[in-house]
Amino acid sequence: MPSAVRREGTGAGSLEPERLGVGPRAPYVRPGPSANSKMDQRKAEDLVRRLAAALRGTELYSPTHPLVQHGIDALSNDALEALQTAPSIVIGFVGDEVVVDGGRLPRGSVALVSFARNLRAREIEKVTLTRGLTREDIRGFVAVLGDRESRIGIADRLTMGSVRHIQVGKIVVEDVTDDQVGITAARRVYETAVETAETLWQAAKAGDQPDPDAARKIIDGLARLVTQDRTSLMALTTIKKYDNYTFTHMVNVSSLAMAQVRALNVDGTLLREFGFAALMHDIGKVNTPLEILNKPDRLTTEEFEIMKRHVVDGAHILRRTPEMPALAPIVAFEHHLKQDLSGYPENIGSRKLNLCTMIVSIADVFDALRSNRPYRQALATARIRAILGEQENPAFNQVLLKRFVNLMGLFPVGSLVRLSTDELAVVSAEHPTDPFRPQVKIIVDAAGQTLEEPLLANTWDRDSRGEHPRAVVEAVDPESVGIDPLKYM
Ligand SMILES: [Fe+2]
Ligand SMILES: [Fe+2]
Repeated sequence: MPSAVRREGTGAGSLEPERLGVGPRAPYVRPGPSANSKMDQRKAEDLVRRLAAALRGTELYSPTHPLVQHGIDALSNDALEALQTAPSIVIGFVGDEVVVDGGRLPRGSVALVSFARNLRAREIEKVTLTRGLTREDIRGFVAVLGDRESRIGIADRLTMGSVRHIQVGKIVVEDVTDDQVGITAARRVYETAVETAETLWQAAKAGDQPDPDAARKIIDGLARLVTQDRTSLMALTTIKKYDNYTFTHMVNVSSLAMAQVRALNVDGTLLREFGFAALMHDIGKVNTPLEILNKPDRLTTEEFEIMKRHVVDGAHILRRTPEMPALAPIVAFEHHLKQDLSGYPENIGSRKLNLCTMIVSIADVFDALRSNRPYRQALATARIRAILGEQENPAFNQVLLKRFVNLMGLFPVGSLVRLSTDELAVVSAEHPTDPFRPQVKIIVDAAGQTLEEPLLANTWDRDSRGEHPRAVVEAVDPESVGIDPLKYM
């Protein structure tokens, strides 16, 4: 227990040595297809042929016919073998093509084309096999697909038949139209996410279970942005000031965590599960009295003790919420623990912090600094420096922290900066290797006049004498000069 009691999650108190060490990955996390080592193409083709043959068998013969049994056995063998090296296999049907774990099978086989058409005609665009798969799952799956009389949907019948490790579904093709890209679209997704976060919060506060579907929608939107337009999303999380700290914090921590995870090349289900856990990390605070939650001053020792309960409360709430990834209660429980397991909850015995906890911790502290007095100007740059300043101090996993700083840049896109020429500019792009020399849009000249047309400048450019005519001197609080930098993105 630190002698100086600080507001939880904010201020230097949360920059104490903590949160270091690489914990094991949660064993119950089911990674998405991209986490797989891609299947050997010949094996993938064999697997799909076995699947096609097994399904054809059920259409021609009775379920007990030896040929049907043989088809099920052959398919089971191949699938079980493939799942030894990958946690899941996704077989997709796009047009007349079959795609396994993102890799297209060669065209040309009439049998495969008709198989793909046949499944698509039944509204199956993908079949996902996950580790844990049993022969019984395959038997159940083949039986469900073989029964063409039933009026109940295939997915429902799989659930009813206790087929646990095979899922069918549609491939979501994301059409990106013009109004779905850029800062305006990102802002829309972001603002919707904040509104939805509030409904999740209110449900939990009322003692109801937060709606996992609503949470999933937030995560899907943010995951798409993290992949397609990370720059806009990061700008929204780093510089915009919002009134409703609590809900913005949920969305920011989720976005910042997913950006880190995506940069580790993780995508699909695992990316979303990390985002989910990050979104819900503070949900236990629904039980924290408002006068403590919103207290502007330092908490008393008693108040801090009450605040600390949110980690255990959060884990309880998330554990009893259906469809919540198993990672979520773990992260809620661990996110104020330090590497040496000081912090809270206290006296928890020995454990290794989960990787997701370490990622969420960085995002959590970075975002919490928004409301901290010395950083109140919400300057992302100052917050990054504050976190970086702790490098000697093992507050974070150093590898993850370095990656985070690289990801954000020292002057993140969207920051307002003053140049050596006394001009004001908005950072519009990062330099690929030099974080001190971004590309900027100059919007106010040295005399303080707003330019009619922003002027694009690369601060890495040199003049004829080999010098940099323009360099970034400092970050500027947008509000102090009444400028909304997002307008210029
Ligand atoms: Fe917290
Ligand atoms: Fe937090």
